Amino acid sequence: MATQASTRAAGDLAHGSVSACGARHVAIIMDGNGRWAKKRLLPRFAGHKAGVEAVRRTARAAREMGLECLTLYAFSSENWKRPASEIADLMGLLRRFIEADLDELAAEDVQLRVIGNYQALEPALVALIDDAVARTAANGGPILAIALNYGSQDEMVRAVQRIAAQAAAGSIAPDAIDASDVDAALDTADLPPLDLLIRTSGEQRLSNFLLWQAAYAELYFTDTLWPDFDGTALRQALDAFRTRDRRYGGL
Ligand code: IPE
Ligand code: IPE
Ligand code: MG
Repeated sequence: MATQASTRAAGDLAHGSVSACGARHVAIIMDGNGRWAKKRLLPRFAGHKAGVEAVRRTARAAREMGLECLTLYAFSSENWKRPASEIADLMGLLRRFIEADLDELAAEDVQLRVIGNYQALEPALVALIDDAVARTAANGGPILAIALNYGSQDEMVRAVQRIAAQAAAGSIAPDAIDASDVDAALDTADLPPLDLLIRTSGEQRLSNFLLWQAAYAELYFTDTLWPDFDGTALRQALDAFRTRDRRYGGL
């Protein structure tokens, strides 16, 4: 069997679908809001609020650059370890972002998606998200995927449960399960293959983000704190991406 990555690489070439900026799908671990606020002697909330502005700028820039998909890590399955007040602040900002920006996203033909176990969030927020996703589902423009209550290990556990249920029901033979079946059972099933994974704030770890999907993604770490990120920073990351030689294990 051809590997997932080589199949995808060949597919990308065959379809010629790579955008002018050289990548189809960029994902960002938006880190450093708290440190941005601390440097200014502001409460962490101020950093998260400034982080929302960075989301707006970056999502607009990604559209202008012709990216097919931008995935943003907004709240991890481990972020529940934070104080309840900070979690409430983050959920409030998310709610206000959807309320304030949905019209613009819809007008720009963006398809809003959510990955992660967002159904575990509070019911009113889940309903707001479901409505927003449904409202943009028929759009044909770029995808903005928000990772909410997302953890790669949790995503993989849920995928394994789905596949195991299919096997138990007799609709798939265990030894016939391959990488494409796993791909299809992940939250990212409908997203293009991941090309570039960016992390801001100087940390060099994945923090449980897109572990499977990053198998052959290029990694880019920048010291820029997320609230300072913008279109120029995204362009720099994509410039670096363009210089990478992606071999997928070949020559
Ligand atoms: C990223 O900024 C936002 C979330 C994880 C929700 P942080 O809040 O992690 O900021 P630092 O890492 O403390 O600076
Ligand atoms: C990763 O950032 C999660 C998000 C950006 C949503 P964290 O700040 O939670 O990561 P760690 O704790 O430094 O690994
Ligand atoms: Mg952090």
